[in-house]
Amino acid sequence: MRLDKMLSECGVATRSETAKAVRAGRVTVDGVPVRKPETKVDPERQTVIYCGMQVRYRKYVYLMLNKPDGYVSATEDGREATVLELLPEEYRKMGVFPCGRLDKHTLGLMLLTNDGALSHRLLAPKSHVSKAYAFSVKFPLSQKDVESLEAGVDIGGYVTKPCSVKLVDAQSGIITITEGKYHQIKLMMEAVHNQITYLERRSFGPLLFDESLARGEWRELTEEEERALKQ
Ligand code: URA
Repeated sequence: MRLDKMLSECGVATRSETAKAVRAGRVTVDGVPVRKPETKVDPERQTVIYCGMQVRYRKYVYLMLNKPDGYVSATEDGREATVLELLPEEYRKMGVFPCGRLDKHTLGLMLLTNDGALSHRLLAPKSHVSKAYAFSVKFPLSQKDVESLEAGVDIGGYVTKPCSVKLVDAQSGIITITEGKYHQIKLMMEAVHNQITYLERRSFGPLLFDESLARGEWRELTEEEERALKQ
């Protein structure tokens, strides 16, 4: 592949930055300074050094973020802080985006990637990817409320699919859903005349929330997590 394409795909340099660095003799392939930005390279086999830094080529990245309060799940927003702002520039240059949405005040596990096909697959309704959330509500939930939530409730003309609700006490628990309608859990609680006061995602398909991540911290998925997600 072209050297400038490789460097831009993995977030190291834009094409114009590569052209400039090449002109300055600051890019080498297997130790030899490159003369043209369009030089063909084999990223699997050749060693590329850009401005003194060895380049690790990969087309796709998969990140787990512990979403803090107050950030919106978007790549850009004129007014609000976005989850992308919590990531280093390198990932933004690679075109990373949030896989699915969490509300501004929802916390916890968020997957971010630049793998559009995988994201599409994980979010497709027919994939039934399960998502577990720890929640608290304003008023105690009765057994009847729990049964209604589990069977499905009407959230503005749509009846939710069966789900699981495990109470920790009358005002908190874990809810596991297999769909992802806009504001789904908030609206489900409103359907039983209650109100979400706390919502934190704890799992996304096979991916479990890494509690060692502080709010706003992120890490790349391990190979095992990546494999599980792709299955
Ligand atoms: N359901 C909600 O209401 N909000 C979220 O952020 C996720 C699921």
